[in-house]
Amino acid sequence: MTPPRKLHIKSYGCQMNVYDAQRMVDTLAPEGFVETASADDADLVVLNTCHIREKASEKVYSELGRLRVAKEEAARDGRKMSVVVAGCVAQAEGNEIIRRAPVVDVVVGPQSYHHLPQLLARAKAEGRALETEFPVDDKFGFLPPPSRQAIRARGISSFVTVQEGCDKFCTFCVVPYTRGTEVSRPVAKIIDDVQRLADNGVREITLIGQNVNAYHGDGPDGRPWPLGKLLYRLAEIPGIVRLRYSTSHPRDVEDTLISAHRDLDALMPFVHLPVQSGSDRILAAMNRKHTAADYRRVIDRFRAARQDIAFSSDFIVGFPTETEEDFAATLALVAQIGYAGAYSFKYSPRPGTPAADMQETVSTADMDERLVRLQELIDSQQSAFNRAAIGKTVDVLFERAARNPGQIVGRTAYLQPAHVVAPADIIGQVLPVSVESLERYSLLGSLANAGLSRTPAHANDLSQPIMGA
Ligand code: 5AD
Ligand code: SF4
Repeated sequence: MTPPRKLHIKSYGCQMNVYDAQRMVDTLAPEGFVETASADDADLVVLNTCHIREKASEKVYSELGRLRVAKEEAARDGRKMSVVVAGCVAQAEGNEIIRRAPVVDVVVGPQSYHHLPQLLARAKAEGRALETEFPVDDKFGFLPPPSRQAIRARGISSFVTVQEGCDKFCTFCVVPYTRGTEVSRPVAKIIDDVQRLADNGVREITLIGQNVNAYHGDGPDGRPWPLGKLLYRLAEIPGIVRLRYSTSHPRDVEDTLISAHRDLDALMPFVHLPVQSGSDRILAAMNRKHTAADYRRVIDRFRAARQDIAFSSDFIVGFPTETEEDFAATLALVAQIGYAGAYSFKYSPRPGTPAADMQETVSTADMDERLVRLQELIDSQQSAFNRAAIGKTVDVLFERAARNPGQIVGRTAYLQPAHVVAPADIIGQVLPVSVESLERYSLLGSLANAGLSRTPAHANDLSQPIMGA
């Protein structure tokens, strides 16, 4: 029997990439690959890249520089290390990567991961670097059968891809080019996945997609189902106690999604709803197809349905032609909505997008200054939101042992990490926690009625949502 080969996958960017990395592990397992924590002793290194902003893309090339050294060292030891570039940079830059970085053996875009074993075999046989040249047949072809996914279910919380790609074409965004047009998976397949995950101990499902609320998968009745209807159905699956979805677009919030928030206890009252800017002029230049007032109305519809709902968002500062007045409109919108958290970014022109042809008008210094002001406002809102939990009893889904011995960590409805000292058998349960204090982003407390005080453990930020919407 041949010894297992070691596979190291490094993922950048959003949760869709984390999910895809797992798919690649599953696809390569039958080839004898097992995961290893370090690139240095790996037989196969996969960089699962992100192209959303310039900084994210640049990381690939610096990592490839390091891998060149590791590959040479491996060769000196008589080992062959193969290097694969996957993800959105692979999709966007293709052959250019092989030209710039000869260390690369295979370049493969997100729609072709199911061809990875054949690509590796061909690259080896032909002794040359390969870019995917298979036709994109089935966008979700790379998904292994649900049974395999179920067996590999790890932990309490799991992502399930329901939709991929985006048809919105915001002028700054690469997603419609790297992830392609919008495609939704059929309802039956999603139910099957969630059912099997639940049978394997998963208690929380996050439905993911670049524009997840544009979901319109075929239902068992032969008609397309909107996301809200899918959520009602998934909430019926025994064992599933929490449902989430990410990332949403304000234009695609239809009424069943709002009523699902009103009716379903399992649907968490925390929605990532990017707005990007508070200025109507900039929103139009971004081709967002909504105004700030439209966005506020969408927020109001959610709030009317579920009083304790909270929001996070994405913002871009320094989009071409953004004036101080436009930026002030963004600050005003943030002040008015009140977020539990948000991500903000400096505009970076992405090759091939319409905005990349626009004249950049905001200086780096102004962009930096606007980013700091926006982040200060968001941070103050996030801190206030977290502090508001102190003294309250909140439901926590416990996920795993924390770093501090004896502590178990879980998350609140708003994804705040919460630590308690408790026996490990609470993992997988939703239990009320009396929140006593806050350490950075982490809530510390005790199981309600258990009456014990706790010490802090490692603090965590909100995890990065899906790039998109
Ligand atoms: N420049 C800066 N930020 C961007 N984003 C997407 N494209 C760009 C870009 N060209 C941000 C948006 C999006 C998030 C995932 O990344 O805010 O919602
Ligand atoms: Fe689509 Fe979101 Fe990108 Fe706009 S920002 S094109 S909605 S993925």
